[in-house]
Formats: sequence, structure tokens, C-alpha cells
Amino acid sequence: MDITNWVKIIIDSLYDGVLIADKDYIVKYINPAYTRITGVYAKDIVGKPLSEIRPGARLPYVIRSGKKLLRIPRQEGKVEYMVNMSPIVEEDEIIGGISILNEITDIYKLTEELNKSNMTIKNLESHVKRMGKAKYNFDDIISKDISSLEVKNLAKKISSKDSNVLIIGESGTGKELYANSIHNSSNRENGPFIAVNCATFDSNLLESELFGYEEGAFTGAKKGGKIGLFELADGGTLFLDEVSEMGYGLQAKLLRVLQEGTIRPIGGLKEVSLNVRIIAATNKNLEKMINEGKFREDLYYRLAVIPINVPPLRERKEDIRPLIEHFLNELANKIKRYIEISNDAMNILLSYHWPGNIRELKNAMEFASNMADDYIITPEHLPKIIQAEGIKKNLVKLKPLEEVIKEAEISEIKKAILIYGDSVDGKKKAAEALGISLATLYNKLK
Ligand SMILES: Nc1ncnc2c1ncn2[C@@H]1O[C@H](COP(=O)(O)OP(=O)(O)OP(=O)(O)O)[C@@H](O)[C@H]1O
Ligand SMILES: [Mg+2]
Repeated sequence: MDITNWVKIIIDSLYDGVLIADKDYIVKYINPAYTRITGVYAKDIVGKPLSEIRPGARLPYVIRSGKKLLRIPRQEGKVEYMVNMSPIVEEDEIIGGISILNEITDIYKLTEELNKSNMTIKNLESHVKRMGKAKYNFDDIISKDISSLEVKNLAKKISSKDSNVLIIGESGTGKELYANSIHNSSNRENGPFIAVNCATFDSNLLESELFGYEEGAFTGAKKGGKIGLFELADGGTLFLDEVSEMGYGLQAKLLRVLQEGTIRPIGGLKEVSLNVRIIAATNKNLEKMINEGKFREDLYYRLAVIPINVPPLRERKEDIRPLIEHFLNELANKIKRYIEISNDAMNILLSYHWPGNIRELKNAMEFASNMADDYIITPEHLPKIIQAEGIKKNLVKLKPLEEVIKEAEISEIKKAILIYGDSVDGKKKAAEALGISLATLYNKLK
């Protein structure tokens, strides 16, 4: 068996190791890569029986049987490689065998890196899942009024259906609370709950937040691209808050995603199929926006498969008292003191029209409990705007000025006596400090 010169040159240039043996298993040739991988030099092996230098070699078997052996893993010190062995056949006769050694250190390194990256992805995923948890449950929604009970029952009922939901209600009525609760009572409760407020991004930014992008999709795109919220919400719920604020163009893209159930990241070629339930919320009248050409009708019907109208607080007055008690309890737990509310303060709160709904009520209770030094909330501790409405409705009476002045004078005199003492001498000094005679002081205290 002859290895001609030019074949030799070719084989010597290969990155893969090559060993050729004849039919008697005598090594005829090895290339430099074989030496690199195994550490065996030509002078030590060429011309010798293979099994002598390389016990355990399987090429003799291949030559004997005429059967190939492929992808046989081997190791030489730290170097790992794969061997492909085939018989060399000439006119139906086996005249030798050839081994090709494929170093796999590089592949191993890559595999290791890949494994590491996979671990990182897994970690991030569980991180995101923890982040993407819905906080509230139906138990957190206080509702006593018949109208809010109806809403809550409807929301509970549709939780387990997988249709999209549109929650409609004024600001502060509890839409977010409902979105959370619906997700947590659905079959997706263990999946992610990803919330995005459409009002906080302009259209371009919102598009890349929602759909993500591939590396180099546009100038300023992050290296490695960015995963979109849609993909993060896969298997769970995507909460599109203030959906009315989404630009008209982006609405069309959203509609496409909802119709096809797939997304394509910006600059990407591949469609990614997704399983996401959409809960959208709005405090705007979307039907009116449709008439004005600001919101797409087709998208509206996709989102509002199940519409839920959360009524404003002024239309469910029976909720006000339990909500006040609920928020005062929360505050009391925080400051570890019981907080009471006087009847007239309660009456003012019950009759107020609550333009900011439950959020306004919650804030008012926090404000009032800060103002009430002795932990009893009376009308004057309430926010001025609420007090003013109470006065207009005659729930708080204005005091005659004479009475106000008298109260102020007595309080100042008591302060002065506290400073100078209760004796006649002390009272003399107090009167002097207040710029009145002792007789007048006695008079006013009567
Ligand atoms: N029924 C309820 N029981 C207890 N707390 C409630 C209830 N409804 C709303 N809240 C509380 O009121 C506040 C406002 O609610 P939420 O954020 O859900 O309102 P929203 O409708 O999403 O308002 P916006 O339109 O301004 O975003 C929150 O602190 C929420 O916990
Ligand atoms: Mg909200």
C-alpha cells in the first residue's frame, strides 16, 4: 500500500488526526494532528503492529470484520476525542483501515458554556416567575354593596375561563386588584403574571417591551436582544393596564398577535408561538374612542370577550363603611394602636362623592390618622376638600366666631398658668404675660 506524495500533503494539513494501517494491522502512516491529539510520534509507531503500541485499539477489528465503527469516544490525558474507523477496500478486498480522530475539547468547552448559560436562563426564569406574581386575591377585595358583590361574583366565575378580559372602571376603583385576583383564581395561577402600563411608554418603546427584539434590530438595541413581555408571560397572564393609551399602529400589531397566537420579535425572522391570556384595563370609554377613531374596534372585541365593569365608589355606598374599617385596621396594625372614627367624621365620609374612588378613601384614612393625635378621627382631621364638601352638605357646622375666639383664649390662658403655676402669684404673672389684668383672666376662666 502506497501513500503518494500529494495525498500525504493533504492528509498532513488536516486538523483531524489520521492513522492508516494495512491488512496485517501494521501502522503505515500517521499525520501530525494524530501526534498532537495522542502524543504518539510517527517514529514510535509507523511500521509496528498497531496493538503493540496502542493496546485496546479497535481498528484491527474494523479491518477484520469490514465494519465501520463511528463516534467512538477516547481520551488521551486531558484530550478527549472521537474516532471514526473504516476499512479501506480495493476491489472487494480489505487492504487496510483508517482512523480519523476528532478532537472534541472545543465542542466540550462550548457544551459546558451552553450548560452554564442554560443554568443562568433557568435561574432568571424562576426569578422572573417570582417577580411576575400577582399579589392580590378575591379575599382582598372588600365588597358589601350589592353592585360590587355582583361584579366580584362575575369576576370569580370567569376566572377559570380562558377568555380575554377587559376591566373597565374609573381610576382607583380596584381594576388592578381584580386583574391580580382573576389570574390567581385561574388555571394559570402558577404561571407568570406580567403587568405593563401602556401609558408609561411611547409606542416604539412599548412595542419593544411587548414583543422584544433581536440583537441589532435597531440602533440602541441591546446586545443579545431583549425578550418581550409577551414571551415572559407565556403560560400565564399579561395585564395590559391603561390599554386605551396604546398607539393606533401598535394596536394593529397587538391584534395580529391575538389572532395568530404568535409573535415575531422586532428584527426577528422566526415566529414564536405563545399561550398568553390577556387581561386589559381602562378608565377611558373605549366605545367613545372607537367612534372618534382612536381605538380599533376589531381589537376592542378581541380584548372585551368578557367585559367587567367596576362601579365607582359613589355608586356602591354600602362599601364605604367596611372599606374605612378595613383601612383603619391596616393602619392600626402598622402603628400598633387602635384608631377610632367619630360619628360625624363617618357621616362626612359616607356622603362624600369620592372622585378618586377607593384609592382616595385609602389615602384620606392615612392622612386623617396622621392628623388625629389622640387616635380619634374627627371631621377636622379629614382632608380639607372632604371637610369642605361636608360643610356644604351641612354635615359639619361652622362654629360662631365668638365661640372660636373664646376657646382660643381659654386654651392660651391655660397654657400660661401651666407655665407660671396655679398660685395667685403665678396667675398674676400669667395675666401680665398675656397682656390682661388679673380680673379679666379670672373672668375669662369662668
Ligand atoms: N374592593 C377593595 N377592597 C380593598 N382595597 C381596594 C379595593 N378596591 C381597591 N382597593 C385598593 O385601592 C387602591 C387602588 O386600587 P387599584 O390600583 O386596583 O385601582 P385601579 O382601578 O387600578 O386604578 P387606576 O385606574 O388609577 O390604575 C389600591 O391600593 C387597592 O388595594
Ligand atoms: Mg391601576
